[in-house]
Amino acid sequence: MEDGKSVMRVKISIVLGTRPEIIKMSPIIRECERRALDYFILHTGQHYSYNMDKAFFEELELPEAKYNLDAGSGYHGEQTGKILVGAERVLQKERPNFVLVQGDTNSTLAGALAATKLGIKVGHVEAGLRSYDRRMPEEVNRTLTDHCSDYLFAPTEKSKKILIGEGIPEEKIFITGNTVVDAVYQNLEIANRKRKIMSDLGLQPKKYFIVTVHRQENVDNKARFAWILRGLKKIAKEFGLPIVYPIHPRSRKRIEESGLRSDGVRLIDPVDFLSFLQLESNAKLVFTDSGGVQEETCILKVPCVTLRDNTERPETIEVGSNILAGTHPDRILKCTKIMFFKENGWQNPFGNGTAGEKTIEILSTL
Ligand code: UD1
Ligand code: UDP
Repeated sequence: MEDGKSVMRVKISIVLGTRPEIIKMSPIIRECERRALDYFILHTGQHYSYNMDKAFFEELELPEAKYNLDAGSGYHGEQTGKILVGAERVLQKERPNFVLVQGDTNSTLAGALAATKLGIKVGHVEAGLRSYDRRMPEEVNRTLTDHCSDYLFAPTEKSKKILIGEGIPEEKIFITGNTVVDAVYQNLEIANRKRKIMSDLGLQPKKYFIVTVHRQENVDNKARFAWILRGLKKIAKEFGLPIVYPIHPRSRKRIEESGLRSDGVRLIDPVDFLSFLQLESNAKLVFTDSGGVQEETCILKVPCVTLRDNTERPETIEVGSNILAGTHPDRILKCTKIMFFKENGWQNPFGNGTAGEKTIEILSTL
């Protein structure tokens, strides 16, 4: 290759299925495009609503998936099983040399499992994260995916150490940084130039809060979700600032089913990535249980209050961008008071925005 990068004559399958996978795989897809590689996207169809799926392909200008398994929603066994069956068929037909999966969803695990059973090499992007809480479906997915992968792309030194501690041979592990940094760097300026969601919502920079809460352990547990909403009501009263919650469809459904109240919180539909980046980067503080949002707030230098008891992103706690509040209303208020006045001089521990490029470069040398 003219630019000195290795030439690659292999076929890659990029498996993705949910909002965060589309966003975090986008830098890898762009790198495949840039190098004109032989690759294709296998979409599991786990997410399918326009604002959880297509919206991201359009605005990030990603090529359409060659296959969509249309797995849709369902309980874990059903959803994972449908993706496993569908992915196996596609991979048998296409016989790629590598399958890349990302993160910790049911799509991630099923894609990795289908490939490894066919003898196809699996690369796990964002390997080595652990919350050590097996009640979370994501913890099961990420642990099993790591252990059936051939190449583990760890975002940080810490995640590499975790993998080595679990007996994974060091030669399989590569520290690349997290592709979320690439996604933020590639899109932040475009977001602030092209989107006008702040003015549409009548928000002033640093004079509002953002919330995203969607994890099964929070929203499928009525008492926990009620606590979180009560905590947010307290925040609204104490700080007198708007709280905007682009609400995930799972959480919206739970509020509707259970009749929970969301006083003091402005619910809006999930927004596109560029609009979310604009909202997130200008917020005074963000409340979340999302993995990607804990990372992005750290990168964007916006304080984060995580509404969980643990995190698989301990780097954010260590640098001081994030605090674990759990879900009790009093503790949420206490942690908000700490983070409201937080100086944001911390360093981003997730890399320099070249994780996509590094991942593909490593694959090309294997
Ligand atoms: C999944 C991942 C979670 C990730 C999240 C990202 C698993 C086990 N969980 O959770 O780790 O943080 O994606 O957003 O893989 N729904 C829609 N439209 C959609 C998708 C979902 O309306 O496009 C609704 C359906 O009611 C569905 C519910 O959301 O039952 C949950 O969807 P599902 O894909 O099962 O899990 P997520 O909560 O999205
Ligand atoms: N996000 C978005 N629109 C929204 C809420 C979130 O584009 O309304 C993006 C956010 O910037 C991040 C990703 O979605 O990149 C996080 O996905 P999610 O919280 O669904 O999943 P998790 O990271 O917890 O797996």
